[in-house]
Amino acid sequence: MLKVVVISQVNDTKFWQDTFSNVWEGQFEISHQNTHQINKETDLVILDFSNDQTNAIDVLTDVSQNLVGKHFLIVSDKKDADLAIEAIRLTAMGFLVRPFKRFELISCLDRLNTAPAGHINSKRKARIITITSYKGGTGVSTTTANLGYTLSQIYQKKTLVIDAAGFSNHVTVLLNAIPKCTLADLCKQGKNLDEGYLSNAVSPIGKNLGIIGGLTKTSDFSDITTEGLEHLMEIAGEAYDYILVDTSTHLLDEISMFFIQKANDLLLLTTFDLLAIRDNRFYIQTLKELGVLEHRIKPIINRQDWYIGSIEPQLIQKQINHTIFHSLPNDWNLCVEATNYGRPVIEVSPNSQLATSFKILAGKITKTDIPEQSGSSNQQPDTLQAEDRKEKKKSILNWF
Ligand SMILES: Nc1ncnc2c1ncn2[C@@H]1O[C@H](COP(=O)(O)OP(=O)(O)O)[C@@H](O)[C@H]1O
Ligand SMILES: [Mg+2]
Repeated sequence: MLKVVVISQVNDTKFWQDTFSNVWEGQFEISHQNTHQINKETDLVILDFSNDQTNAIDVLTDVSQNLVGKHFLIVSDKKDADLAIEAIRLTAMGFLVRPFKRFELISCLDRLNTAPAGHINSKRKARIITITSYKGGTGVSTTTANLGYTLSQIYQKKTLVIDAAGFSNHVTVLLNAIPKCTLADLCKQGKNLDEGYLSNAVSPIGKNLGIIGGLTKTSDFSDITTEGLEHLMEIAGEAYDYILVDTSTHLLDEISMFFIQKANDLLLLTTFDLLAIRDNRFYIQTLKELGVLEHRIKPIINRQDWYIGSIEPQLIQKQINHTIFHSLPNDWNLCVEATNYGRPVIEVSPNSQLATSFKILAGKITKTDIPEQSGSSNQQPDTLQAEDRKEKKKSILNWF
C-alpha cells in the first residue's frame, strides 16, 4: 500500500485520488493536511502549492526539516525557477507544474525506490532580512535594532545584526553595544573566518543577539570585498536563525546592493507623505529591474499617524503598486528616550503601541504568534524606574 500525504491549503483529495488511480497499479491511500508537521507514516509527501497565494519558497524552507528521511514531490501551478532550485537543493524527487502529464508523475514515482530521501543539511540556514530605504531618516536603524532585539529576546531566535550603514554605527549606539569588530575586520579574514572566530568577534547582547559594527575608518572600504562578504554570510548563515542588515540609503552603494540581493526579506522603510510615496514607487520599480524578486520587497510604513490630511494606507498601496507589509506607529518621545538610554523600545516601554508593533512585525517574519512571556517584560512597569534610568543613561554615556 502506497501511503501519500498531500500538504496543501486547498483540499484537493479527489484530484489526487483520480490521478493516482491513473498511474499507480497497486493500492494507495491519499490523506490531505494543511499543516506542515508530518506525523503519519508515509511513503510519499506531496507539497502542492497550486492556488496558494503564500510564498512557496518560504513555506518550503519552513517545512524542510520535517521532510528529512522522506520522499517528497513539489507541485505548483507556476513555473517558478526559484522554487524548482530550492526543491532540487532539498533533494525533492521531482517538480511538477500543473497541468502535468501522466508520464511525468509516473517517472517521478519510478524513482521512489532509488531516489535518496530528503537529507536536508542539518546546518542552520539563516533567513537574511535587509532593512533599507530610499532616503535617510525613515527608521531603518531603529527598526533593525528593535526587530533584532525582539527576535532574539521575545522569540528566542539566534540573531545577528550587521551594521552595513557606513560610518554612522547607529545600531550599536541604539543597543548600547561596543563593537568588537567591523564588517571590514571580518572580510579581511577571508577564508580563515570560521564559526569560532565569528562567535568571538561579534558583540553579544544577551544570549541570542550578536552585533557586527559598522565602519570606523576610510580604509575599511577597501577591505570589504564581495568574496569576503559571501564567505561571512556562508559562515553566519550556519550559526544564526536570522541575520538583520542595517543598510545605508544609497541605491548604488555596492555594500547595500550586496545585502539587497542576498535578502530573503527586504524591508523597505517609508514614511507617510506624498514625497515618500513617489520615491518608493520609483525605488520598488528600480529594485525589480535590478532583479529583486517582487515578493521579497516588503514595504513598512513608519511613523504612521492618523490626522486630518493623512493618507489612507489603501491609497499608498495603490500608488506604490505593492502590498504594505506592516505599519509602525509614530512615537517620537519613546524613540528619543530609548535612543538616549541605548535601550530598545520594547525594554523602555514594553506595553507601548510601538513595542507591540515590533513584536507583531517579528511575528510576521517568523510566521508565529507572539510567544507568551515567562515573567519578565509582561510584568514590567511600562517605563523604566528612576534609578534604572540613571543607570542606563550612565551606561550609554560611556559609549562616547
Ligand atoms: N516609529 C517612530 N516614531 C517616532 N520616531 C521614530 C520612529 N522610528 C524612528 N524614529 C526616529 O526617527 C529618526 C530617524 O530614525 P533612524 O532609525 O535613525 O532612521 P534611518 O536609519 O533610516 O536614517 C530617529 O530620531 C528615530 O528615533
Ligand atoms: Mg540609519
